[in-house]
Amino acid sequence: MALYSEKVMDHFRNPRNVGVIEDANGIGEVGNAKCGDIMKMYLKIEDGIIQDVKFETFGCGSAIASSSMATELIKGKPVKEAMQLTNKAVAEALDGLPDYKMHCSVLAEEAIQSALEDYQKRTGDVILQEE
Ligand code: FES
Repeated sequence: MALYSEKVMDHFRNPRNVGVIEDANGIGEVGNAKCGDIMKMYLKIEDGIIQDVKFETFGCGSAIASSSMATELIKGKPVKEAMQLTNKAVAEALDGLPDYKMHCSVLAEEAIQSALEDYQKRTGDVILQEE
């Protein structure tokens, strides 16, 4: 069996939504101390919807694929849904990651959470989690 799914390879080779949003209203940056990889997420939120999302990832292929997939999963979605995105959902959408690469998808979840927290701080908007 191939180590990486075709989806992982596709998102690694052709990552979606790479770049910077100049007028982002939520920016999150996280890193993994062990591997040294860094992920930065930019959100443009309007009327409670993620209108645009871009990322910059300095990291391994799985981290790049995870950030790319994560941006696709939250683009156009309500902030509440983005808040609930888990690394497991990102990995599943990629048709799985090897066990020892699951932490790379955690970076994507954390980067989005961090960007949403930044958005809440900047705007005073409170994103309530659904029960
Ligand atoms: Fe560091 Fe993948 S090895 S995020």
